[in-house]
Amino acid sequence: MAHATDTKSTETTRRDFLMLATGAAGVVGIGGVLIPLISQLAPDAQTIAAGAPMDVDLAPIAEGMAIKLFWRGKLIFVRHRTKKEIDEALAVDIATLRDPQTDQQRTKAGHEPFLVVYGNCTHLGCVPLGNSPGDPKGDFDGWFCPCHGSHYDSSGRIRKGPAPLNLPVPPYAFSTDTKIRIG
Ligand code: FES
Repeated sequence: MAHATDTKSTETTRRDFLMLATGAAGVVGIGGVLIPLISQLAPDAQTIAAGAPMDVDLAPIAEGMAIKLFWRGKLIFVRHRTKKEIDEALAVDIATLRDPQTDQQRTKAGHEPFLVVYGNCTHLGCVPLGNSPGDPKGDFDGWFCPCHGSHYDSSGRIRKGPAPLNLPVPPYAFSTDTKIRIG
């Protein structure tokens, strides 16, 4: 009797093994179909490189707050400046600046509270601090790059430290009073 049970048990084990093996082949087979399907759905490299325009809703960005986002793989800061930050940016004598630009050249007329700039330090590319709500950094109410001590003002202009240039302004336009299109 024990022998019969052993035989049955062995057969069961073999059958289980065969079923598992078949199941595994099925999974591999499905995987083999899924991978090309997923790669067909993914945008191709040229589409990514071209970088479609991106719409950004500014309504949720309260005064004094800044957000980070990515466009074309690059970091961008959008800051809703306070009146004090705007006044400070406007009061600067641009003849004293390393990279002379007026605040008006860096914002859109009628939308002065919003500043849109690339978010990497122009020295060696670190990400400056200063995006916490109501907590601008550095000596000029803007951003501070802790890597080597660059200070950017509330217009994103370099004011102190080794960075050679202002944080660049990406191409963008207002599509409504509270929406911008980057790109
Ligand atoms: S990378 Fe910002 S100061 Fe050097």
